[in-house]
Amino acid sequence: MNLKVIGGSLTADTSEFQQLNKYCNSQDLHPTLEWKNGQYWLHSDDLKEKPIGISVDQELERHEEFFKRASIVKELLARAVGVKSGIRPKILDLTGGLLGDTLLFLSFGCEVITLERHPIISFLIKSSLANAHHSALRRLTFFPLDAATFLTEHPAPDVIFFDPMFEDANEKALPKKEMRIFRSFIRHDQDALSVFTLVQSLNPKRFVVKRPRLSVELGLRPQIKIEGKATRYDVYFSS
Ligand SMILES: C[S@@+](CC[C@H](N)C(=O)[O-])C[C@H]1O[C@@H](n2cnc3c(N)ncnc32)[C@H](O)[C@@H]1O
Repeated sequence: MNLKVIGGSLTADTSEFQQLNKYCNSQDLHPTLEWKNGQYWLHSDDLKEKPIGISVDQELERHEEFFKRASIVKELLARAVGVKSGIRPKILDLTGGLLGDTLLFLSFGCEVITLERHPIISFLIKSSLANAHHSALRRLTFFPLDAATFLTEHPAPDVIFFDPMFEDANEKALPKKEMRIFRSFIRHDQDALSVFTLVQSLNPKRFVVKRPRLSVELGLRPQIKIEGKATRYDVYFSS
C-alpha cells in the first residue's frame, strides 16, 4: 500500500482510500495522511516534521482581523483581480493548492470558484472545508477538477486566476516547508502553458497569472505587471 493513513474514517476498506491509493501507486507517491483536530493533514517523509494542511477558519479569521486595520483595495492581489471600492468580482481560481489565494479572495468579499486536480491535495481541501464554519465559505464553490475539464464544461466568470507550479531558472529562493512538501507530491505542472493558451482562447475579461517576481512570463506579455517583494501578478485583459 502506498498510502498510509493515521486515524479518522479513511480506512483501507473505503472506496475513497482505494481511489487515492490507486492514484499514489500510479504516480509512485507514498503519502501519509494524519487525522488531527477534525481533519486530515499531509506528512513529509519525515514523520517528526509537522504535517501540512489548511486551517480554514483560523486563516479566514486572521485575514478578517488584518483587514479591520488595512485597506483591501491596496493589497496587490486585490488590485490584480480588479477589486475596487464597491467592486467585488467573481473569481475562478484554477489552482487551489493549499487555498492561500482562495481564502484571501473570500476575505476581500469576492465569490470564488476554486479547482484542484491533484487527488491528495483535493482530499486535503475537502477535509479542511468539512471542518470549517466561517460564513465567508458560503461564497466558495470547490470542484476537485482539472482546469481544462472545468473550462470546457462551464462558463467562466469575468476573472480567472492561475498560479501553477512552474519553475524557471530565476526561481532561486529556497521553498518554505509547505512548498517543499507540496512539491514532493505535485512536482511541476507541466501543462501550465497549455492551460494559459486555453484561457487566452476564451478571452476572459481579466486573466491573472501569479509568478515568482523575477521569473519569465508564462506566455504573452501581460498588459499590466503588479510586483511585490517575491511575487508578481501578470494581468491580461480581454481583447
Ligand atoms: C502553486 S499551487 C497553488 C497554490 C495556491 N494558489 C495557494 O495559494 O495555496 C498549484 C496548485 O494547482 C494545482 N493545479 C495546477 N494546474 C492545475 C490545473 N490545470 N487544474 C487544476 N489544478 C491545477 C496543483 O495540483 C497545485 O495544487
